[in-house]
Amino acid sequence: MIKHFFAAITGNVISLIGTLMIALSLLFIGALLIMQAMGFQGGAYLGIVTFVLLPMVFLAGIIVVPLGIWLQKRRDAKAAAEGRPVGHLPIVDLNKESTRGILLGFVALSVPIIALAAGLTFKAVHYMDSTEFCGMACHKVMQPEYTAFQRSPHVRVGCAGCHIGPGAEWFVKAKISGSWQLIAVAFDLYPRPIPTPVHSLRPANGTCEQCHWPTKFVGERLKVRTHYTDDETNTEVKTALMVKVGGSEGGESHGIHWHVDPKHTIRYLSDPTRETIYDIELTDQAEGTTKVYKAAEGAPAGSEWRTMDCVDCHNRPAHNYRSPQYEVDLALSEGRIDKTLPYIKREGMRILTEKEYPSHEEARAGIADAVKAFYVQNYPDRAGSPEVEAAGKALGDAYCWNNFPQMKVTWNLYPNHIGHKDTPGCFRCHDNKHKTDTGEKVGKKCGTCHNIVAEEESDSKLLQELGLQEAPPEPAAAEQGTATEAATSPAT
Ligand code: HEC
Ligand code: HEC
Ligand code: HEC
Ligand code: HEC
Ligand code: HEC
Repeated sequence: MIKHFFAAITGNVISLIGTLMIALSLLFIGALLIMQAMGFQGGAYLGIVTFVLLPMVFLAGIIVVPLGIWLQKRRDAKAAAEGRPVGHLPIVDLNKESTRGILLGFVALSVPIIALAAGLTFKAVHYMDSTEFCGMACHKVMQPEYTAFQRSPHVRVGCAGCHIGPGAEWFVKAKISGSWQLIAVAFDLYPRPIPTPVHSLRPANGTCEQCHWPTKFVGERLKVRTHYTDDETNTEVKTALMVKVGGSEGGESHGIHWHVDPKHTIRYLSDPTRETIYDIELTDQAEGTTKVYKAAEGAPAGSEWRTMDCVDCHNRPAHNYRSPQYEVDLALSEGRIDKTLPYIKREGMRILTEKEYPSHEEARAGIADAVKAFYVQNYPDRAGSPEVEAAGKALGDAYCWNNFPQMKVTWNLYPNHIGHKDTPGCFRCHDNKHKTDTGEKVGKKCGTCHNIVAEEESDSKLLQELGLQEAPPEPAAAEQGTATEAATSPAT
């Protein structure tokens, strides 16, 4: 019987190929699984090979083997039919030992094969939801999002947490659009850059709100931003804001998270990029009233309505691309760029913004050279120092974290709607120009959203009291300090 089964699955070229596909893919999957079990870390591509590519070969083999047998049977039948009347279906004669062999072989093998195929499919589907797959399988395509994601507070959340969420409906939707995306990547049909906003994004109640409670009362949050000025000493200045995040307290919500209180809904009409907002409609469910704030100009054709949720402000919770200013300030405050390098803030900004590079390698090399060139020309004593080297590296990083030439992603191509510094953000609505018929405005008063505790200050009393800034030494104390130092360490 076994002999007949093997004869059938290898008895024609097509089935033979199918059999080889099954055998080899199983062999490789087995070997790779054993290697992984023994601790071999092959990275993202190993996962794709083990759980996606090889199982596809395996499944293709399963289809090809019976196809070959069937074609072979048809050919045999045709040849045999020369003598017999035409139009008969092939006879499955269970009295023949060979037929029984083939049938039994198939039944015996189909059980473990189906179990294995189901297991592999399950693994593959799970694997395709992993951040590793989303971010790295389509390496070049998702590199911008993946790079920014790795610096975000959500790096442990995973792509699927926000892009799929729980439940079968969105899972299926994600698999369907995911299949199209795989094809787009395979045949190079995807847009560059990937457009934003994501019109098919799942509403936040199925994603963000699985982890964040929309009516949670956050209250006021002190946000301190450190900046550096353009002068020779890169003076450190701080801006401190008491941001009125608010939320719901005692059934009443106020402050910034007032927008997402379930007791009312805000809808707005905008262009497809959501950058220009026309009508804003505020519906109070409890009172059953609706207010419409209209922009100065009417909405053009092609405008779309959208119900506001978390993502209309937090549109970059996981992939926030930064401005050159932010990156240079961050590198200076983290010490990746040495603050004592003269004019490094000004020069860093100039070097990061004066040129676009065709690749990350060229960007790193070009930026490092430009930094060196400035110090060779102006401060030759610092030119060869490790600080200049480090500054070149940090600025190269800053460029490569936010610019992806192969995807046509550049600084601030993807706007961040929190705030109003680099892009209009909150001011898309809060511009004093959206008004109701009775003249009520969506206001721009600074105090509505935050109190400014200090703005670009290098010696703020308040910041010193909060321990956010060092107090300048008192003149008398300073003298004393110098005196003791001189006394205790005469050698220096
Ligand atoms: C914390 C939630 C969250 C996580 C985690 C997350 N994303 Fe996103 N993603 C978003 C939001 C929100 C948007 C943009 C929404 C909008 O403006 O339409 C977005 C947009 C995108 C876009 C469209 C381009 C853009 O930047 O607007 C891509 C591509 C993308 N995400 C890929 C990924 C990948 C890959 C991962 C995992 C490495 C990931 N996302 C993880 C929330 C998330
Ligand atoms: C699977 C759970 C999960 C999901 C889904 C999720 N978050 Fe978060 N989020 C977290 C955790 C955990 C933190 C805290 C991270 C930390 O403190 O480092 C966080 C932090 C934040 C913060 C504060 C960031 C900061 O700088 O401190 C914001 C804002 C935020 N999430 C918004 C969102 C938005 C908007 C979405 C949906 C697009 C979302 N989150 C989806 C778990 C989640
Ligand atoms: C009108 C704009 C807006 C909307 C809508 C909005 N947020 Fe926020 N949220 C903010 C701002 C502004 C902050 C202050 C943080 C900052 O300045 O970075 C904030 C802060 C947060 C924080 C951090 C709080 C902390 O402890 O510091 C979380 C978490 C958060 N939001 C989650 C959400 C979620 C979830 C939703 C949707 C249910 C949402 N937000 C809707 C504007 C908004
Ligand atoms: C509709 C709400 C809103 C209004 C009105 C508003 N702001 Fe802001 N502003 C924000 C938010 C949100 C941020 C971001 C806070 C953060 O950095 O986390 C911000 C940030 C800032 C910053 C800090 C920028 C930085 O990163 O250094 C300054 C300065 C500022 N606002 C000044 C003003 C002034 C001046 C006004 C009045 C003309 C004003 N804002 C009105 C919401 C608002
Ligand atoms: C889609 C339009 C829209 C956007 C975008 C928007 N708001 Fe609002 N916001 C409104 C409307 C409408 C009101 C109600 C009218 C008013 O009080 O000015 C409001 C009210 C507020 C209030 C007063 C809430 C209260 O206690 O009554 C605050 C604070 C606020 N917004 C902050 C922000 C901040 C911060 C951002 C950006 C992160 C922002 N808004 C973005 C439409 C918007």
